[in-house]
Amino acid sequence: MKGLILSGGKGTRLRPFTYTGTKQLVPVANKPVLFYAIEDLVEAGITEIGIIVSPETGEQVKAAVGDGARFGARIEYITQDAPKGIAHGIKIAQTFVGADKFILFLGDNFIRDGIVPQVNAFRDGAMHAQIILYKLDDPSSMGVAILDDAGRVTRLVEKPKQFVSPYGVIGIYMFDPHVFEAVNSIKPSARGELEITDTIQYLIDRKLNVRAHLLTGGWIDTGKMSDILEANRLVLDVLGARNDGQVDSASIIEGRVVLQSGAVIVNSTIRGPVIIGERTRIENAFVGPYTSIYHDCLVQNCEIENSVVLEQSAITGAPARIADSLIGRNTEIARAGGRTRTIKLMIGDYSKVGI
Ligand code: TTP
Repeated sequence: MKGLILSGGKGTRLRPFTYTGTKQLVPVANKPVLFYAIEDLVEAGITEIGIIVSPETGEQVKAAVGDGARFGARIEYITQDAPKGIAHGIKIAQTFVGADKFILFLGDNFIRDGIVPQVNAFRDGAMHAQIILYKLDDPSSMGVAILDDAGRVTRLVEKPKQFVSPYGVIGIYMFDPHVFEAVNSIKPSARGELEITDTIQYLIDRKLNVRAHLLTGGWIDTGKMSDILEANRLVLDVLGARNDGQVDSASIIEGRVVLQSGAVIVNSTIRGPVIIGERTRIENAFVGPYTSIYHDCLVQNCEIENSVVLEQSAITGAPARIADSLIGRNTEIARAGGRTRTIKLMIGDYSKVGI
């Protein structure tokens, strides 16, 4: 069995981060979200992995992931010339997949408890495809599945306007090679993409055995800022404390805190769960629960909680506690000089600031 991870796409909902960065590399508890997908596949015994990248994301993904050796996997890259849909990603991976069964994992989907039981059921079972469902009060922004009494999927509806089922289809799918007949037969949708929903419906319509697995653990599609903060909380909740950094005697560390190597804490309070990245310095500051500060940052003379800060950023003063924020890489937040009470901003396109 092989793995196929989709790490291309447009990432419009995560602008401005996706202007310069790849959304699948946004860190969740200081680890790119894409790495969790690779680790989930390896944990389920799948070590031959293809990653679909776009011409824009390719170099960053390759630089971060490499050949897969550090994950115990063999990774091959497949470039998708344009974001023509998830099913298009399957289509261009036909040579890589060959006659194997495979797991399709959307690189921005995060699943807390891994995929071992689902993969084992698919490996052993006689099904042609398996989708994973997540029960929601309102799944109207997703594809939803309608099941019969035996648990077979009878119909999929993309973003239903009226409630038809509580079961949203999440971004981890399992297929045998019948899926290639589907992706080579379906036509692009109104938005110009080859849709995964149409692909699965094609299999159902041909009476193939499409099964569903209901997920009970945590799942998050990290395509939006609020989802990244939620995924970050989910991981920090189960991270064990570790100190590979330095803490001076004036600082207080409370709860579960991870200090990665070279992190330095001076005259500050860190209240876990928190992770502080490599070579990051925290000085005269308060870092509150559910915060991840990535590598090579400076956090000084300020308070921050329930936030994610990307690499090489400097926060050296803020008039109020920073909360519920996602702060990009190489950013600077500082107190403005001068005597008037002004706010001085240089903000990229599509940024959001709450004052
Ligand atoms: P989406 O989040 O559905 O699409 P997107 O990345 O274009 O984002 P947005 O809606 O914010 O513009 O994509 C799900 C995953 O599949 C994501 O990891 C990107 C990937 N993908 C591809 O690799 N190729 C594609 O053609 C598409 C549509 C998505």
